Amino acid sequence: NHITWDVQAAQKGGYKHFMLKEIFEQPRVVADCIAGRADAVHGVRLPELDGLAAPKRLHIVACGTSYHAGLWGMGLIESWARIPVRVEIASEFRYRDLILDKDDVVLAISQSGETADTLAGMRRAREMGATVIGLCNVVGSTVSREADHVIYTQAGPEISVASTKAMCSQLTLLLLLALHWGRQKGTLPADAQASAVRGLVGLPSVLEAELPRMREVAQSLSRKYSSARSFMYLGRGVQFPLALEGALKLKEISYIHAEGYASGEMKHGPIALIDPEFPTFALALHDDLFPKVKSNLEEVQARDGRIVAITHPGLELPVDDAWVIPEVWGPLNSFLVLPCLQLFAYEVADYLGKDVDQPRNLAKSVTVE
Ligand code: AGP
Repeated sequence: NHITWDVQAAQKGGYKHFMLKEIFEQPRVVADCIAGRADAVHGVRLPELDGLAAPKRLHIVACGTSYHAGLWGMGLIESWARIPVRVEIASEFRYRDLILDKDDVVLAISQSGETADTLAGMRRAREMGATVIGLCNVVGSTVSREADHVIYTQAGPEISVASTKAMCSQLTLLLLLALHWGRQKGTLPADAQASAVRGLVGLPSVLEAELPRMREVAQSLSRKYSSARSFMYLGRGVQFPLALEGALKLKEISYIHAEGYASGEMKHGPIALIDPEFPTFALALHDDLFPKVKSNLEEVQARDGRIVAITHPGLELPVDDAWVIPEVWGPLNSFLVLPCLQLFAYEVADYLGKDVDQPRNLAKSVTVE
């Protein structure tokens, strides 16, 4: 099996695991996703959607990490394109007594394009007359063949069971979709397109520069927190889907229980869980909800909960471990938060000696119900 090892090693490009390699591919993924779709001269255009009017109502249907990406995109599409958006867990959506017609558009997000529940959901929607857009990473996959329109995320093959660069590509495309439909409807805030395109064009080099430092911080924090019994991940607004994703990453590769929660929901019960063995990973960035997040964290500390917080320079945040990352423009900050969450989960799992690329009981694509 010497040859197999060489092929595997070559494919890992010198990284210990595919997951680590794929996390570090994210700068290239952003660049590949915007190539031909967004630049400072032409602005944003999605040729895949030429001829398709902006949706009256949008239903994003997905599972797992792709569902988290959809939740993240909802706020942007609502705010920039003024389109009502629902984000649905595919395994729930497919069995509901749906109310859909030709004025509904379903966006099926699936890295593999083979997830059974997502496929079933999009098939039901099409039967009811809705238009389906597939957002997937595998050319020729079932989602891409059955959708009315398909947008490829061009992240390249994702080998690790835990999805990382695929989500980065999904967020990029969702941001471009919000800009595309916003432009089509004339509802884009004045500076949004220019700032978003300028930020996206510069994002790969920011990520390239920051990833090594992010990994160092993740490594040192992993040694301190890998004995936790459970973890609470907190975020508000655009950080809420990222909190869900951070918790999923930790669960699926380190097997430490973790809950992603809207930080405003803590006082409605979960705060009772907090104790020194149940730390909190908070997303406390420089946005208009920061003061609210800060007060939620003070409640956690009042119950002797330890806190790791990803935050921005200059924010006064008295936590055990403040993970300060550079601030960029608006929603693009999520592209720096995401790799920190991925690297933290990776370093904890690796430190605990887990099989990072092939976690127990998990498959890369859930093609059965
Ligand atoms: C993510 O780390 C998991 N591997 C899983 O939740 C995955 O996102 C989910 O199964 C959806 O897969 P898809 O994007 O290929 O449809």
